[in-house]
Amino acid sequence: MRAFFGFLPLVLTAYPALAGDPGRGQEVFKACAACHGDKPGDLGPSLIGVVGRAAGSRDDFRYSGPMERAGFIWDEAKLVAFVRDPRAVVPGTRMPFDGLADARDADDVVAWLASRK
Ligand code: HEC
Repeated sequence: MRAFFGFLPLVLTAYPALAGDPGRGQEVFKACAACHGDKPGDLGPSLIGVVGRAAGSRDDFRYSGPMERAGFIWDEAKLVAFVRDPRAVVPGTRMPFDGLADARDADDVVAWLASRK
């Protein structure tokens, strides 16, 4: 664990294009983990590898119709917009979350999601 966190600054220097701070994003993610905990039976789908994945496309999760039909690929910009205001990006989604009020929290949590492959 220590070695992993020691390595993080290196990763950040190597990818200066990422606006968010994944370390801080991991803290923000605690608000998501109750539903997105990667456990069978969780209320929400696993978000491991979500960047680059088609919306509503995991076979092990029963999505709402609107999410299944969303028809786009999650990139970082889409994810930031979704976590700020889920229903603005996917009207009718049944994700029971009002969105993160703080833009920095959204950037950071998406940086954390992008780091989880
Ligand atoms: C109270 C439970 C809950 C919380 C809290 C929650 N989610 Fe969700 N999330 C869901 C559910 C349920 C869905 C499926 C929505 C649908 O099918 O319309 C979902 C879907 C998603 C998706 C789409 C995944 C895919 O495979 O297409 C993303 C991305 C996502 N959530 C991110 C987040 C993030 C980031 C947070 C924290 C900021 C968060 N969620 C907080 C329940 C939750």
